[in-house]
Amino acid sequence: MLRLTVQRGTRPTVAALTRPLVSQARWTSQHVHKSTCSTSTTHSTIPAAAATDARGQSSSNSTGPIPGSSLPVDEETQSLFERFKDYRTSLQKVWPRLTPHQRDLLSSMLRVNQAGEIGANYIYKGQHAVFTKSQPALGPVIEHMWDQEKKHLHVFDRFIGQNRVRPTLLRPLWETAGFVVGAGTALIGKEAAMACTEAVETVIGQHYDDQLRELLTLDDPEIENLRKIIQEFRDDELEHLDTAVDLDAHKAPAYEALTQVIKQGCKVAIEVAKRV
Ligand SMILES: [Fe+2]
Ligand SMILES: [Fe+2]
Repeated sequence: MLRLTVQRGTRPTVAALTRPLVSQARWTSQHVHKSTCSTSTTHSTIPAAAATDARGQSSSNSTGPIPGSSLPVDEETQSLFERFKDYRTSLQKVWPRLTPHQRDLLSSMLRVNQAGEIGANYIYKGQHAVFTKSQPALGPVIEHMWDQEKKHLHVFDRFIGQNRVRPTLLRPLWETAGFVVGAGTALIGKEAAMACTEAVETVIGQHYDDQLRELLTLDDPEIENLRKIIQEFRDDELEHLDTAVDLDAHKAPAYEALTQVIKQGCKVAIEVAKRV
C-alpha cells in the first residue's frame, strides 16, 4: 500500500513512546544524539546562538528551545542548532541568484509547507486534547510527534519571515481544519485517530518527496541544504506514519473510506496552500 521508497533512519518503537513522560524526555535526548551521528535521519531545531534575521540582526523571538515544545535542550541539541544555522544562511545566499520563476517556485514550496505544518500541529493538538482524558497512555506518543511538528513549523515560519515570502493567508483555516480532523477522529477512537495520522503522513511524505525532486531543478549547490531539511522532515513524517500503523490504524472503523477522504482532503489543501 505504501509506495514511498526512502531510506529511513532510526525510529522509536511504540514501546519506547508509551513510556512515562520522564523516560520519554530521556529517550528524545538519546535519539537526538543518535541522529546527530547519522547521515540518513536527523532532527533540527533553532539555536539561540543562530538567531539572526536576513540582515544579520538578532531576532527577538529566537531564544531557547522551540516555543511550546517540551524537547530538552542539551549538548547534542545545541550541535543541531549550529547545523541549522548553516542551512538558514544557505537559503539566504541562494535567494538573490534565483530567477523570478524559481523564486515563485521556492516561495510556493515554503508557503505550502508552512500551511501543512500548521495543519499537522493542530491535528496533534486535537488528538492530544481528546486523549489526555480518554487514553492518557497515548499522551507521550502524541507529544513526541507533536514536538517534531512544532520544529517543522518553526523552521518554515522562520524561512518565510527571513526571505520575505508571503505566508499562507489561510492560517486560521488550517488551524481549525487540523484541530477538527484531529479531535474528531480521536473522538471516534484510537484506531481512527491513527488512521487519520497514517493518511495525512502518507500524503505529506509523498508531497515532500515531490518537492525533493523539484528542488533538483533549481540547480544551485546551496539548495542542497534545503533538500537536507526537507529530507529530514520527510523522515519524521514517515516515522509518524509507521507509529500510526503500529498503533492499529488499520483496525479503524471504515478504514478505507476514512483514509481516502482524509487523503483527498490533504491533496486539495496542498493545492490551495501553494497559491493562497
Ligand atoms: Fe511535519
Ligand atoms: Fe508528521
